[in-house]
Amino acid sequence: MGIITSQRDLDKMRSACQNAAKILDFITPYVRVGITTAKLNQLCLEYLTDELKVKSATLGYAPPGYPPFPGVICTSINHQICHGIPNNRELKNGDSLNIDVTIIKDGWFGDTSRMFHVGDQSILSKRLSQITYECMWKGIEKVRPGSKLGDIGFAIQNHAENSGFSVVREFCGHGIGLNFHESPQILHYGKPGTGEILSSGMLFTIEPMINAGQKNIKYLPDKWTIVTKDRSLSAQWEHTIYVTKTGYEVLTTSPNTPLPPDFIRNSN
Ligand code: MF3
Ligand code: CO
Ligand code: CO
Repeated sequence: MGIITSQRDLDKMRSACQNAAKILDFITPYVRVGITTAKLNQLCLEYLTDELKVKSATLGYAPPGYPPFPGVICTSINHQICHGIPNNRELKNGDSLNIDVTIIKDGWFGDTSRMFHVGDQSILSKRLSQITYECMWKGIEKVRPGSKLGDIGFAIQNHAENSGFSVVREFCGHGIGLNFHESPQILHYGKPGTGEILSSGMLFTIEPMINAGQKNIKYLPDKWTIVTKDRSLSAQWEHTIYVTKTGYEVLTTSPNTPLPPDFIRNSN
């Protein structure tokens, strides 16, 4: 279970998470027509090693049954849902991609992802990305001591399905802290009032994967990349969250973090 028990640890976790977010700020201007995702990976590797002096959590990461992941970022393009491996394909006009980065600083893990759009964006891609961003925040909004995990999952699923989209079931948010993936699992679907009760000090990610078509997935032969079975577009956003005494703190923030949606800003 990802948990914070001292101010010192909280400061370290904040710093790890902010560093992860800074990598997404750094890479943003490079995400253009013609660049390869391998080049984006190389730029991120140099930045996190030489400038931030942090370690990648994904490079060489090999859970049981998986080959070592070869990148410091996951680059998941269009119908790829998550865990896309950086490669030599050039980004082209109209591509949408998720870039997901996880780093380790002082032993603490920070994990965050955003959507990026190359050139002209289709109306569907724009709407899918926006709804997915709102889904993440609908989940974040539920975070406070006493809430249940099912409240988070339900809020996300409800918003996705009311928008005509579907929620990927096989992958979920996760506890995080001194390890990459810990309990609890943060499902992005569920029933209100069910599941584990949240308490202050907990650390976890919320990272909904939302498909424009059906929810079904497929593994590519590389054993990492997950795609939609019907080849429909998919989007994902991810923040690492800390449960405070009264609500939540989003830890993966940086100077260029996108603002929360209006329904959050107007309620604060
Ligand atoms: N960052 C992903 C997550 O949000 C995990 C990526 S594992 C990798 O949990 F090996 F594919 F990089
Ligand atoms: Co994660
Ligand atoms: Co991630």
